[in-house]
Amino acid sequence: MPDNQILVIFGASGDLTKRKLIPAIFELEKQKLLPEKFAVLGIGRTEIPNEEFRQKMVEGVKIHGKCDDKYLQLLDDFARKLYYKSIDTKDRADYIKVKDELQKIDSDLDIGGNYIFYLSTPPSLYGIIPEYLASHGLNKSEKGWRRIIIEKPFGYDLNSAKELNKRLLEDYDEDQLYRIDHYLGKETVQNVLVTRFSNGIFEPLWNRNYVERVEITSAEYIGVENRGGYYDQSGAMRDMVQNHLLQVAGLIAMEPPSSFDSTSIRNEVLKVFQSIRKLSDEEIHSQVIRGQYLESFIKGQPVPGYRQEKGVDPDSKTETFVAMKFFVDNWRWGGVPFYIRSGKRLPTRVTEVVIHFKETPHSLFGVNGSHGVEGNKLIIRIQPDEGILLKFGMKIPGAGFNVQTVNMDFHYSNLTHERIPEAYERLLLDCMVGDSTLYSRGDAVLSAWEFITPILDAWRNDPLIKIYGYPAGSWGPDNCDDLVSGKATWRYPCKNLSDDGLYCEL
Ligand code: BG6
Repeated sequence: MPDNQILVIFGASGDLTKRKLIPAIFELEKQKLLPEKFAVLGIGRTEIPNEEFRQKMVEGVKIHGKCDDKYLQLLDDFARKLYYKSIDTKDRADYIKVKDELQKIDSDLDIGGNYIFYLSTPPSLYGIIPEYLASHGLNKSEKGWRRIIIEKPFGYDLNSAKELNKRLLEDYDEDQLYRIDHYLGKETVQNVLVTRFSNGIFEPLWNRNYVERVEITSAEYIGVENRGGYYDQSGAMRDMVQNHLLQVAGLIAMEPPSSFDSTSIRNEVLKVFQSIRKLSDEEIHSQVIRGQYLESFIKGQPVPGYRQEKGVDPDSKTETFVAMKFFVDNWRWGGVPFYIRSGKRLPTRVTEVVIHFKETPHSLFGVNGSHGVEGNKLIIRIQPDEGILLKFGMKIPGAGFNVQTVNMDFHYSNLTHERIPEAYERLLLDCMVGDSTLYSRGDAVLSAWEFITPILDAWRNDPLIKIYGYPAGSWGPDNCDDLVSGKATWRYPCKNLSDDGLYCEL
């Protein structure tokens, strides 16, 4: 059970608080996982009375969370734990109001001085808020503990991330800082560790001797929706690849940790990032493809192109799609290409990792010199239809020895008694108990930026690097398959894990 504590949310009038954070906290309440004495203090610029804030959060839970009739009373009681205070977050002096409010709630409820500060604000405030809290003595305490959760993006490039890190470390210790990456909160992402390290059969094969390539895809069906203003300054590389997808690659590629604790696990992830070979200028041209969606028809309905979206520059060169190839230069992975692909307005929403195993060294069943079957594939489906799929060769019953690829699959949905918790539920609870395993450590974030920043710089400075259009609803620029060596292609997944081939439900 976590210590008694107050969770202070900066940016409390924003979308994330209502849609994700408060519903996740209420879910913890339902499961009796919150501390005995607990309060949420929302901080925002808009002036609204406590009661109105509570109402809005209750609405948020009803719309975005899970709250059937039997929980209405509990929701009502929960709402009484929510408080709100408005301040000017850019005014250092105004933070005295946060301090006073915390003291008041703390002594009323007898909390004991433990506070989490959650920064769900525009990134420009990620340096300011912690500094101003510290100038009121809220960064350290003899009585309780203090922690800060920082939303992504952590920095805009290597230099800004370094600067932010340095600024935070002036007033806080690394173990007070929780850099959130909601992908690490996904049950299926955590299951990568369990699949690899609790089974004897995968790990011996998990290296350059048996793996031909690794492919990570994160496709979104939606476009930029109402986030054009933010996205146009960000793009797919910053929005998805630098954080979420490299973190997934880190868990796939890491060495077994010496023990299951935050430091050991995060040390191994860091080593992966440090081993990723930086791309040369020439490789940035040939191994990274960027694209932008164009207007098109999806299921007969017209959809706008990226440049027509609200908040987007009509001449924007921001990428809504990235596909890239890179290598992890270490003993385990030397020579094995890793492919990452991510985009908006693709045919379906799917995130998965595909481990492509090498073909058999000698073909017994091939026809005309071909192997007859492709190499085995292990597909770790992160979402939707969460599960794991192994593809292998089977004899087609009857005469001869004809081989066909078949599926062996596990779907989380078969565990009917289990529900998959939301990422924020898991991550908030981890921070409440002081477990940082599923949060990104500063050195790893910087290391990821070291790999990504030269690509972003080249895109900005080199007019010869093309950005390709792709029709909304397609799998991105046509030339993406050229990245994959030989006659292989990307896997083109469907909504359902075990469907593939030409016809599938999107
Ligand atoms: C966010 C990005 O971090 O992740 C969004 O800013 C993206 O652009 C989202 O849509 C994807 O998250 P999920 O959990 O839906 O895969």
